[in-house]
Amino acid sequence: MTDFDFKYAEYQKVVDERLSEFCDKLTCQPQILKDSLVYSIKLGGKRVRPVLMLAFADLLKTDRSDIVNYALALELIHTYSLIHDDLPEMDNDDFRRGKPSNHKVFGAGNAVLAGDGLLNTAYSILFNECFKGNEYVSAAKYICDCAGIEGMIAGQSADLLHENDAAVNEDILNFIHTNKTAKLIMAACVVPSILSGGKYYSEIKTFAHDLGVLFQLTDDILDVEGSFENMGKSIGKDGNDGKYTAVSLYGLSDSKLRADLYADRCAKMLEGLDGDTEFLKNTVYFVRQRIN
Ligand code: IPE
Ligand code: IPE
Ligand code: MG
Ligand code: MG
Ligand code: MG
Repeated sequence: MTDFDFKYAEYQKVVDERLSEFCDKLTCQPQILKDSLVYSIKLGGKRVRPVLMLAFADLLKTDRSDIVNYALALELIHTYSLIHDDLPEMDNDDFRRGKPSNHKVFGAGNAVLAGDGLLNTAYSILFNECFKGNEYVSAAKYICDCAGIEGMIAGQSADLLHENDAAVNEDILNFIHTNKTAKLIMAACVVPSILSGGKYYSEIKTFAHDLGVLFQLTDDILDVEGSFENMGKSIGKDGNDGKYTAVSLYGLSDSKLRADLYADRCAKMLEGLDGDTEFLKNTVYFVRQRIN
């Protein structure tokens, strides 16, 4: 295990423990509602967004106790986005995180409700933090805006709109990548800055945008080159469904070149920040080289 793997696992453990505690305390009825929420949360996943949030909190010396509920809320929102993304009327994916998608187990109606439930509960968790003061309100609002109609939802809407669109162009692809994926990664990285009074706000926002685009570039590449065993989701579906992806616009080898450029640019940006950015730099290259 490298130092990076060790540190990543340490952050993941913090996140997983908070998620477990959240699941254990759920009292909602009927049982199928609780089961469907817990099912998708406990399937696992890389937890890359909350891990990034914790890593930026450490860099900026934001208190762990201040950050952990924001990390929890963000992972719940991400998990909801995956449940809805997999629905038959969206990407119609039967597998997620190596197991049948939420709607394959609980049915589409319950999967819609599980997603709604995760989003709604995330907001309740964020509201609870707001009592602590103005910066906590700003941080909560930042997450909501990134997830909302000028963020992830806008990206998902454009992703659907441009399925089988022959008139591909770079602006549309950038809109899709920035909104459907980069916005939640921006939320992860920027929240610690907001909670620390705005330290490196613009720098971190730009870094997180580029890291988010890199994340979707590699997701698009892995849809062609990845394996079901590693990715835990169906491969080759983007091409079959006429999705508007980096690979459909640039081709595979230019997409990889772009991913390399984004990774190097992200790593370079970290050099402008004080403190130990080694873990974050390694996270950038993990996103570039990931196989899962
Ligand atoms: C998948 O996100 C959806 C995209 C934005 C590409 P992740 O690759 O972070 O999924 P998990 O959480 O690890 O399953
Ligand atoms: C989904 O993008 C981004 C979300 C907001 C969920 P994809 O549709 O490419 O994600 P995967 O490939 O299904 O994980
Ligand atoms: Mg999708
Ligand atoms: Mg999908
Ligand atoms: Mg994809």
